[in-house]
Amino acid sequence: MQYSRVEKEFFFRLNGEEVRVRAPPGYTLLEVLRHILHLTGTKDGCSSGDCGACTVLLDGRAVHSCLTLISQVEGREVTTVEAVDEKVADAYARHGAVQCGYCTPGFVVATAYLLSKMHNPSDAEIREWLRGNLCRCTGYVKILKAVESLAGDDG
Ligand code: FES
Ligand code: FES
Repeated sequence: MQYSRVEKEFFFRLNGEEVRVRAPPGYTLLEVLRHILHLTGTKDGCSSGDCGACTVLLDGRAVHSCLTLISQVEGREVTTVEAVDEKVADAYARHGAVQCGYCTPGFVVATAYLLSKMHNPSDAEIREWLRGNLCRCTGYVKILKAVESLAGDDG
């Protein structure tokens, strides 16, 4: 895609730190994270809001960073997979819910969001909350097991 060469400065909080970046206003948050800040844990699966690989938290709410313009992030708080509670990623690893791993950061962030809203989700609630995240490898069973293992966890 062609962007205007005009850049603007944007300020936001990223994983607890204040960040100032210069970027074309048409850049998405995903592009800024990956291409300007070189924070590559957040993945680009489809660039169109269909796969969930780019999921981050914006003011604590899960969003697709590929559909979020950097101008919408000004003054707000972004949390990426790099700053999500490690126990979520650990549960995915422990349950063999990672194969190629490309979808995993998005699932981990979406799971953290689910657990921030619902301490002990049912199987149906886990499926509903994660339905925006696609995985081409695992068949989802191990992903569900990983999330179920975290449900009701006070640790
Ligand atoms: S890369 Fe954003 S939803 Fe697929
Ligand atoms: S582990 Fe490969 S896409 Fe999910």
